[in-house]
Amino acid sequence: MKQAVVLVSFGTSVEEARRRDIAPVEQALGDCTRLPCRRAYTSPSIRRILARRGVQVQSLAEVLDVLAGEAEEVFIQPTHLLYGNEYDGMKRIVEQKQNLFGRIHLGKPLLANAEDIQALAKIVSDLSPRREGNAYVLMGHGTEHFANMSYPAMQTAFRLIGREDILVGTVEGWPGLEEVADQLKMRSVGTVTLSPLMLVAGDHALNDMAGDGPDSWKSRLEREGLKVDCQIQGLGSLAAVRELYKAHFQELLGNL
Ligand code: CO
Repeated sequence: MKQAVVLVSFGTSVEEARRRDIAPVEQALGDCTRLPCRRAYTSPSIRRILARRGVQVQSLAEVLDVLAGEAEEVFIQPTHLLYGNEYDGMKRIVEQKQNLFGRIHLGKPLLANAEDIQALAKIVSDLSPRREGNAYVLMGHGTEHFANMSYPAMQTAFRLIGREDILVGTVEGWPGLEEVADQLKMRSVGTVTLSPLMLVAGDHALNDMAGDGPDSWKSRLEREGLKVDCQIQGLGSLAAVRELYKAHFQELLGNL
């Protein structure tokens, strides 16, 4: 049976972020298999922006239409963080297109269960040395989808391994920066290390987190009297995170 792989990301309009955070994940997953791998981005607006620059990236539906004539079995591995709206969208597309293939398999996001949450917390903890008077603030995306509960779950995972100095907030979900800032106030924290809890340190990290505008997390925390240091790198740039993706992908290919 002819088989193929699709590696699906949300996508980014920031080329440097793509090279640093998405490409290594695609590479690591591609190295796990000899099957041909295709790329898809789920964000229509990102694909539109890239198309204007002459960079064509297909949607999952488009890739599946192309593969329909070539493969009978397809393995789809998302690089998305959680089972949120984007993942639901992929599930719908897989349902629509499943008649085109003998078999079609959709893999898990990075955070698919409690073990993944704990594994990611450990990875971040290992890379974040404890420092007197310092706290780490992770900026997640956040969503109105119930999968947003992955963020407070991450916070619990940090607390359970004794890392009260690592705080999790979100741009569009709960908890937000307000709650994080309140937590910082209750402790004797003087410096904050900000980093994105996202696959890609793209637009949100550059602007909402580290931007010079008055509403960025950096500016708002500085107004609270904190010294803020920003780390601009997505989770995809971390080898240990790529191992987590690889484990999910191997599990998906185990369907072979
Ligand atoms: Co967004």
